[in-house]
Amino acid sequence: MINELEELIANALRELEMVTQDKELEAWRVRYLGKKSQLTAILRGLADLPMEERRRVGALANRIRAELENSYQQKTQLLREDQLVSAVGAESLDITLPGRLLPGGRLHPITQTIQEIHEIFVSMGFQVMEAPEVEWDYYNFEALNIPQHHPARDSMATLWVDYKNERGERNMLLRTHNTAGDIRAMETMRPPIRVVTTGKVYRYEASDATHVPMFYQIDGFAVDKSITMAELKGTLYEFARRFFGEERKVRFRCDYFPFDEPGVEMAIECGVCGGKGCRLCGDSGWIEILGAGMTHPKVLERGGLDPRVYSSFAFGMGIDRLPMLRYGIDDIRLFYGSDLRFLRQF
Ligand code: DAH
Repeated sequence: MINELEELIANALRELEMVTQDKELEAWRVRYLGKKSQLTAILRGLADLPMEERRRVGALANRIRAELENSYQQKTQLLREDQLVSAVGAESLDITLPGRLLPGGRLHPITQTIQEIHEIFVSMGFQVMEAPEVEWDYYNFEALNIPQHHPARDSMATLWVDYKNERGERNMLLRTHNTAGDIRAMETMRPPIRVVTTGKVYRYEASDATHVPMFYQIDGFAVDKSITMAELKGTLYEFARRFFGEERKVRFRCDYFPFDEPGVEMAIECGVCGGKGCRLCGDSGWIEILGAGMTHPKVLERGGLDPRVYSSFAFGMGIDRLPMLRYGIDDIRLFYGSDLRFLRQF
């Protein structure tokens, strides 16, 4: 009987050691501590044993039961800890997993173009300037040698702000061109000045494939003691070469701007037909991209500079046209339509 008990505890402990799951543990408990277990049977049969043996076997059997119960409790605890550890392990962050891709945004094609143009002019010594979009008549027209009733005002269909000064004049507007920034530059800087003013300009016009009431312009302005037409042409040639490519031909022709004397327009060879003439260039082979000129002496005077000492050139260019020419986009409204199918291509 004693041997039987000793064998039993040895087996029970060995088996308990191998248990790894709740189900196995329960089966073990039933087998060794349950009502039908060998140990229970031995304890029940104690009454039939002679006195002396009953005491020895009884003491041993009870000790074994206590030990098995104790071991069972410990094992239960151990299994619970194991489960906790593996649960925490499964939930923890695996920092070696690649992250989920966020949908990437991108810059609007007009913004990209502005940055590219700025890079070119900044490398030539120009600084980027900002000027107000809501402007005074004085800066947009008056100081640029476009007085009241000058016919040049008609060509700039102006959006006026509903505001009158003390003399009852409507003198506030949405700037029609960034040339207004040139006067502001002379008021705040001393020569030599080299600035570009970039941003939105406004014209009271119906939208179509080549017109929108709000578009982007860049105006460049350089003032120094010996600025000549050669500097104007050199700067703009260099810009055209860098933006459109070395091979692109450039043409200057006379033009008229009240704030320039003389004034010119610059055209580049049409990129679609290579100068032969097509629908895009109106069969001329050339596409006009900017107006420019030597600043009129009266404008320099308005800026507080003596035109006998200082000379200056300026140019103004629509920005929207550049990506249109480069990518063959035939409708300017696409830039302002917020259609991602269009915008994602750039
Ligand atoms: N401001 C003119 C326009 O919007 C463009 C222009 C022409 C700007 C000649 C200039 C310039 O600075 O010198 O049509």
